[in-house]
Amino acid sequence: MKDFKAKIEEHKERFEKALTRAIDEKSLQEVRNTYMSRKRGALKLLFEELKTLKPEDRAEAGQMINKLKMHVQKKIESSLKKLTVPKPLARERRIDLTLPGQKEYWGAQHPVSLFQQEMENIFIAMGFSIEEGPEIETDYYNFEALNFPPYHPARDDWDTLYITDDLLLRTHTSPVQIRAMEKRKPPIRIIVPGKVYRRETPDPTHLPMFYQLEGLVVDKGITFAHLKGTLEHFLKTLFYEKIKIRFRPSFFPFTEPSAEVDIECIVCGGKDEECRVCDGSGWKEILGSGMVDPQVLKNVNVDPEEYAGFAFGMGIDRTAMFAYQIPDIRYFYENDLRFTRQFNLK
Ligand code: DAH
Repeated sequence: MKDFKAKIEEHKERFEKALTRAIDEKSLQEVRNTYMSRKRGALKLLFEELKTLKPEDRAEAGQMINKLKMHVQKKIESSLKKLTVPKPLARERRIDLTLPGQKEYWGAQHPVSLFQQEMENIFIAMGFSIEEGPEIETDYYNFEALNFPPYHPARDDWDTLYITDDLLLRTHTSPVQIRAMEKRKPPIRIIVPGKVYRRETPDPTHLPMFYQLEGLVVDKGITFAHLKGTLEHFLKTLFYEKIKIRFRPSFFPFTEPSAEVDIECIVCGGKDEECRVCDGSGWKEILGSGMVDPQVLKNVNVDPEEYAGFAFGMGIDRTAMFAYQIPDIRYFYENDLRFTRQFNLK
């Protein structure tokens, strides 16, 4: 019995030594196998040895083996745990304060979104609300309800990307005028910012996708004076109070009368005959507008004898190019951070 006790002690000591040498998972598993393996592990052999002991010693010897077994199990488990936990701690302690810091780049709003918000805020302050509509439209909303009959040559001015004969990518935000008037009765006072699509080859002033901001006011007693006053206030707030504005007669199928609105060239002030921004004319066309055509009101069951309205539409990215003097519309969509960050300095 004494011999057996000494043997157990010896195993324990050998185990402790092996454990201190085991520095990774693989060597710890080896130690575990040496003791715990069900085939030839040291503990298994000790249990087999029990049979050779005197029957009265067996119970005590069995307890000793069990104690050793628990000890081995516990120690190996805790050593394995220590192996996985301290890694990140160790790395943290190894921070080298002499290294340059890692720069964090924060996201920023896109210049077109920023400019869109600037425009929206001016109209919101005048009591307009924001309306949205689908980018995939039907021929009816994009053209017919806006008073473009099928095959009418006016359609040629909108180079349309058709999906089927009846479905298309909206070429302007004007169809949302119809959707809004179908949804609710006047008074209506909305703006519609959003993406529009045309069949264009990309160049410095064209892209197949760009942004427009549409406006619509319908109520009793609306006149051209409201249109003029609203757009003048908008342009003076967006640019500057003294900016020169001119209304030029024009044509759109969905407005009558129609007007295009120009502002003085903010780059040359009309003084440079070779100005690249206004081609020497001194004026820059900013938007299309007009009184809502009575036929359009009829199309949405609004009585033109009772109600009148005005509408307008302009390019957001195009106007941003003019305001910030950006020579190429493609810069907006190339995601070059050196370009986009310049607009987030506020
Ligand atoms: N939808 C026109 C375009 O894409 C712009 C426009 C002109 C909108 C006159 C209007 C308007 O609401 O009244 O060129």
